[in-house]
Parts: sequence; structure tokens; C-alpha cells
Amino acid sequence: MKIVQISDTHLTAVGGPTEAAFRLLARHLAEDVRPDLVVHSGDIQVLHPDDAADRAHARGLLDLITAPLLVVPGNHDVGMPGVDAWAGLTVTDERVGAHEAAFGPDHWRHDTDDAVLIGIDSELLSSGLQREADQWRWIEATLADLPEGRPVLFFLHKPLWAVSDEPADHQVDVGPVARDRLLRLLEGIELRAVGCGHLHRYRQVQRGRAIEVWAPATAFLAPGGDELPEGRQELGYVEYTVADGEVRAEFRLVPGMPQLTTDDLPWVAEAIETLTAAAAV
Ligand SMILES: [Fe+2]
Ligand SMILES: [Fe+2]
Repeated sequence: MKIVQISDTHLTAVGGPTEAAFRLLARHLAEDVRPDLVVHSGDIQVLHPDDAADRAHARGLLDLITAPLLVVPGNHDVGMPGVDAWAGLTVTDERVGAHEAAFGPDHWRHDTDDAVLIGIDSELLSSGLQREADQWRWIEATLADLPEGRPVLFFLHKPLWAVSDEPADHQVDVGPVARDRLLRLLEGIELRAVGCGHLHRYRQVQRGRAIEVWAPATAFLAPGGDELPEGRQELGYVEYTVADGEVRAEFRLVPGMPQLTTDDLPWVAEAIETLTAAAAV
């Protein structure tokens, strides 16, 4: 079976080049790729989780994906955990609720004959919300109840494994506490792939029997000069092939899709500056 992972679409009610890129992607998937399933690994909407117009507009655009679509939220959809959340946008019950009203449950299990897909809300991890405790209970129960021998693909917005030894100025992965707990729980299952977004770059690394896949964004490339591993700095998507119990993943370009940076989206760069400056006061 063929599963496509898209990520970091950062869609806005304003439209613009990121929407044009998304429309190209959706048409390419519907007409040329024809996947069995599509997973969106978060940052659906552009920047602010409370922007209802962005959310509604993004919801409409995701309907252009004709294959069954599974969605996990990113930090720009529901906020981040912790006191150092980007631009002070902390994950809250209301924000997750608004996301779920538009896109469905923030964590889910999807069974097929070839594989089991599991998606979780990485932004709840270490948040201390009741929803976090509920999700941990759900993860434990779900992983304890998997069909024997069927490969598992696990999706979340932030990377599960540590991204860098250097301390970063924002949350780049799920952090050590959630990572240790998740890895212990994942130990006993037929884990073959862990797909995330958030870093706006592609990388594939072998982790035991599983591949760790950083999906590229479709919206814009990460600004240069960060301390993180470079990976492949191109916009596109990931195509997974599941066959005979094994999972392979490959980076794919969308024909004709421009390689946008925030320099091409000056109002996004400006909005980022405004949000982060307001949070710093
Ligand atoms: Fe993003
Ligand atoms: Fe993100």
C-alpha cells in the first residue's frame, strides 16, 4: 500500500503562494500519485492557533485531498507545551478542542490489512493538561492491543528522537521525559516507521528496525542559520510503501511547486516578528 505524508502546510485565509503550492500538491496526489491514505503531520494553519478564519479556510483546502486523510496537530494548530512555548502560544484545552472540531480527534489509530497507523498529539506531551494524561492512557491501551506481526507507522508533529545535542532556543523535539516514556512503550511493538514534521526539512535515519522520517514542509523552507542538522532543504512530501511487513519511505518533489522561503512571504516574516516581539514584552 502507498501512504503519503504531507506536513507544515501553514495555510492562511489570506491565500497567497503557500495556498497555490498546496493546490498543486493536492492535484498531483489526486491525479498522479493516488495514495491509499494521506497523513498530515501538523502545522496545518499558518501561525496563530486562535485564528478561526485560517482554520476554516485550511479545513476547506484539505478537502482537496481526495484520499482518506488523517491529521495530527502541530504547534501552530494548538499551541506548544511548557513555559518556553513559541511566541507564548501555549497548548490549551480550548485550542485542542477547536482543532478537533475542525479536523477530528488529535490522536487516532487507523487499521488496514497491511499496517496499523497511529497518530498522537505531540503538543500535549509534558503540557500537564488532563488531556495529556488521557492521551498517555490511550497510547498504553492502544499499543497493548495491536495485531501480531502487522507493521506499525507512528506519526506526530515534533520529532521523537533528539534532534541536536546543542540546546535550541525553541522546542525542536518532544523532549527527554516524553521521549523516554514513548520509547519504552514502543519497544514491544512492530514499529517500522516514525514520521514527524515541524523542522521543515527531510531526513531519514534508521532507529533499530524502524525508520525515523522528518517530512519536508510544503509551505516554506526553514530559515537558514539554525543550529539543527540540515537534512534535505527542499519542499515536497514523503511516500511510504508498505509491502510484506516492511516499510520504505522516499522524499518526493511536487512537479512545478516553487521552493518558497519566508523571503517570498514577507507578511509571514512580519507576523512572526510581531508575535514573538509581543511575547517578549
Ligand atoms: Fe511548521
Ligand atoms: Fe511546528
